[in-house]
Amino acid sequence: MPNILILGGTTEASALAEALADRGATAVLSYAGRVANPRRQPLPTRVGGFGGIAGLVRYLREQAVTHLVDATHPFAATMSAHAVAAAAETGIAHIVLTRPAWAPAAGDCWRHVPDIEAAVAALAGPRRRVMLALGRMHVSAFTAQPQHHYLLRFVDAPEEAPVLPDHALVVDRGPFSVEGDVALMQDHEIELVVCKNAGGSGAEAKLIAARRLGLPVLMIDRPALPERHTVHEIGAVLDWLDHGADRGV
Ligand SMILES: NC(=O)c1ccc[n+]([C@@H]2O[C@H](COP(=O)([O-])OP(=O)(O)OC[C@H]3O[C@@H](n4cnc5c(N)ncnc54)[C@H](OP(=O)(O)O)[C@@H]3O)[C@@H](O)[C@H]2O)c1
Repeated sequence: MPNILILGGTTEASALAEALADRGATAVLSYAGRVANPRRQPLPTRVGGFGGIAGLVRYLREQAVTHLVDATHPFAATMSAHAVAAAAETGIAHIVLTRPAWAPAAGDCWRHVPDIEAAVAALAGPRRRVMLALGRMHVSAFTAQPQHHYLLRFVDAPEEAPVLPDHALVVDRGPFSVEGDVALMQDHEIELVVCKNAGGSGAEAKLIAARRLGLPVLMIDRPALPERHTVHEIGAVLDWLDHGADRGV
């Protein structure tokens, strides 16, 4: 009987938790603990870091985990790298459930940058009105370009005001609609959208809105990670649990 650990914090992880609970599977969903009120889950949850690779290895052994599903956000590169290392060390079956990356469509005007630092550097120049669709973790890096007006959108109201000198803050958990994002960008007279290539439909509205408004997008590409067994559908994880992991796929 598989004993599954899901590394979560995404809609994919929640959907997988739902599917596993429906099957009566033995599984735990793990959160980093970044969000104040994570949604209720139909599976037992645990919250907080494991304590690096060694901590994750210990947890996997102590809990007798047999299957590790990394359903973290594609930008949660540290956790994902730890999962690779811990799975290798313990020999536990490991799979990645993630959303396909976004690709530009006709009418898009994207400039690709490899990481946050490069995005900050790319903002050198005269003042613009910039939507920073990045979440709160990386906002402080943009103090290096204080000349811009920044529109921020966070899942939770921050405990301390964002450090950017000139900003507007919207607190909204989504999902977002194209119409809503068009209106938001128009209301704030946005000239440039900065975002990470998260993929998925929930956060795509801002890209479609930018296309409709003819706005350029500064797209931060996904971090590089070791090659991993990666799937995009819940059903593929269930198949792997039923068969694939046994065959060492
Ligand atoms: N990065 C994003 O843009 C983004 C967006 C939406 C949601 N999220 C979610 O937010 C969480 C944190 O993301 P991040 O970018 O800060 O990750 P990260 O930089 O890869 O992880 C930093 C540390 O946080 C802990 N951690 C991360 N995910 C965890 C999980 N699911 N369960 C237990 N501990 C976890 C680990 O601590 P230890 O080393 O102590 O184990 C990890 O080393 C993830 O669950 C991710 O799915 C991230």
